[in-house]
Amino acid sequence: MKTAIYYFTGTGNSYAVAARIRDALGDCTLVPIASLPGDRIVPDARRVGIVCPVYDMGLPEIVDSFARRLDAGGCEYLFAVLTMGGMGVSALHQLNGIFKEQGSDLDGAFTVAMPANFVPLSRPPTGAKLEKILDRAGEKIDTIAGLIQRGEKIPLPNAPFSSLLRRLFYPGYIQHTDTLDEKFWVTEDCIFCGTCAKVCPVGNIEMVDGMPRWLHHCQLCMGCLHFCPTEAIQWGSRTKDRGRYLHPEFGAKKMKRQRLGPKVDDSQKTEDSGV
Ligand SMILES: Cc1cc2nc3c(=O)[nH]c(=O)nc-3n(C[C@H](O)[C@H](O)[C@H](O)COP(=O)(O)O)c2cc1C
Repeated sequence: MKTAIYYFTGTGNSYAVAARIRDALGDCTLVPIASLPGDRIVPDARRVGIVCPVYDMGLPEIVDSFARRLDAGGCEYLFAVLTMGGMGVSALHQLNGIFKEQGSDLDGAFTVAMPANFVPLSRPPTGAKLEKILDRAGEKIDTIAGLIQRGEKIPLPNAPFSSLLRRLFYPGYIQHTDTLDEKFWVTEDCIFCGTCAKVCPVGNIEMVDGMPRWLHHCQLCMGCLHFCPTEAIQWGSRTKDRGRYLHPEFGAKKMKRQRLGPKVDDSQKTEDSGV
């Protein structure tokens, strides 16, 4: 059965999950959510998936908005795989709630623990710890791909604690996407390369006099901070000297392609280093 996987990613975890599922399923297109116009979306496939990170126990704003525009009525199998650093099943409930309003339900609801990339909260894992997380994730993704392939119904796990945390924390994210980027700042290590502006999946950075300026429609994906080659970009007061993270199978070219759409994004097997 033909499959379309819609994805959003800031540091490559969700891209890597989507790409691995695509490779396992075959006849599958990856569609970057950031490349889509603001109209209603009618998928060109009967099996449809959404892969994205969890933000503050909920969905990235761009994914919430996408799900409301997705016409899932014609899907034979609708699934979601959410990547997260620790906790966020509540985001699956949020997504299912959006589909329920349209009379659909997720057939497969999955989460995968991946390296946490929210540097203001914690240092991203490195070394053996990172490898262990990625190995475990790889096994889980293969299991998930098998379940999707067989069309198995995987209901939403109960998540009362996670849902409580979402009620507490998510409004601080979703109601402030116009001001979240006010916390970004740049140290004197900036080399004026413009990588941040080139990789931003939602075009929220412009270069002014060689320096980045954020335009106040930020998803808080942290791509600019993690891709900066000199670690000059900071958010708030706790990101200096905390390390940075990108999924090992991800790079600037794939990040840039998020805005361009499936024709160039699909089946990328090439080297991905330059900007
Ligand atoms: C703004 C922000 C908020 C986050 N909130 C959560 C969270 O509530 N729970 C969690 O487990 N991980 C959280 N994370 C970590 C990401 O969900 C996780 O690292 C994810 O795999 C990143 O995916 P990506 O590389 O595709 O962007 C957050 C990350 C960011 C940038």
